[in-house]
Order: sequence, then C-alpha cells, then structure tokens
Amino acid sequence: MGLHDIYYAEQQIAKSLPSMIELATNRDLSAGLSAHLEETRKQIGRLESVFNKLGKEPKGEKCPAIDGIIEEANATAGEVEDKSVLDAAIVGAAQAVEHYEICRYGTLIAWAEELGHEEVVRFLTTNLNEEKAANTKLNTVALRKGVNRKAVA
Ligand SMILES: [Fe+2]
Ligand SMILES: [Fe+2]
Repeated sequence: MGLHDIYYAEQQIAKSLPSMIELATNRDLSAGLSAHLEETRKQIGRLESVFNKLGKEPKGEKCPAIDGIIEEANATAGEVEDKSVLDAAIVGAAQAVEHYEICRYGTLIAWAEELGHEEVVRFLTTNLNEEKAANTKLNTVALRKGVNRKAVA
C-alpha cells in the first residue's frame, strides 16, 4: 500500500474503463464513465508529478486489491445478459473502484500531511476530490436516472 500501488491501480482502472463504457447502455452512465476516464489519465499525470516532487522514479507495484475489484467487475459484466441489470452492475462495480481509491488517497494524504509535503497533499487531494465526485455522479445515475429501478423491475 502506497504511492506505487495507487499508481498501478490508476493505470489498471484506465485500462478497464473502456470496456465498461462500451457495455453501459444508459447514456448518463457511459458519459460519466468517459469523463472519469479522462480524469483518470490526468490523475496518473498528477501521481507522476508527486513522484517527481519526492525525487522518485514513477513506478507501479502490483496491487492485488484493485486487481481483485476489476476482475470481479469483469466477471459480473460477463455474466449479466439483461441490459438494465448490466447497467446497475456496472454502477456497483465502478463504485467499488471509487471507494477503493477514496480510502487509499485518504491514507496517502494523511501520511503526506504528517511529513509536511504540502505540494504532494495538494496533488493527491485533487485526485481524491475527483474520485468523490465520480462516486456521487454514479449515485445520481443509479438513483435518479432509474438504473437501479429498471434493474429490479
Ligand atoms: Fe482515480
Ligand atoms: Fe476513480
């Protein structure tokens, strides 16, 4: 757990989002995920800036937690045939990813604060805020745009 893990995780997330976007049928859902893919690419750039600030080479380290979350998301998406259920499953899987990121950034920010790395705290907080906003957007899509209602109908 650390900077190398979240760097790896963000890259795996950027790789997995295109297939989720392709599978999503709800327009708000696919648009939201596409916007977050763009953000994710920028987040990777911010993490590279953090490595630079710390005088380290940007390097990922295999993180079994995010691999498991993504693997589960792919397996679930592969099993669901009903389109409306699929959208709800995608929302659920995407929210698991966002919650993972939110907790990891929270820890990294706390550590960076402890060490007095103010610039690092700023970069990481920008990423954290984007993850929180993405999670809120997914809630809106699921609850207000009827994704969950259609799934249980
Ligand atoms: Fe992210
Ligand atoms: Fe995210």
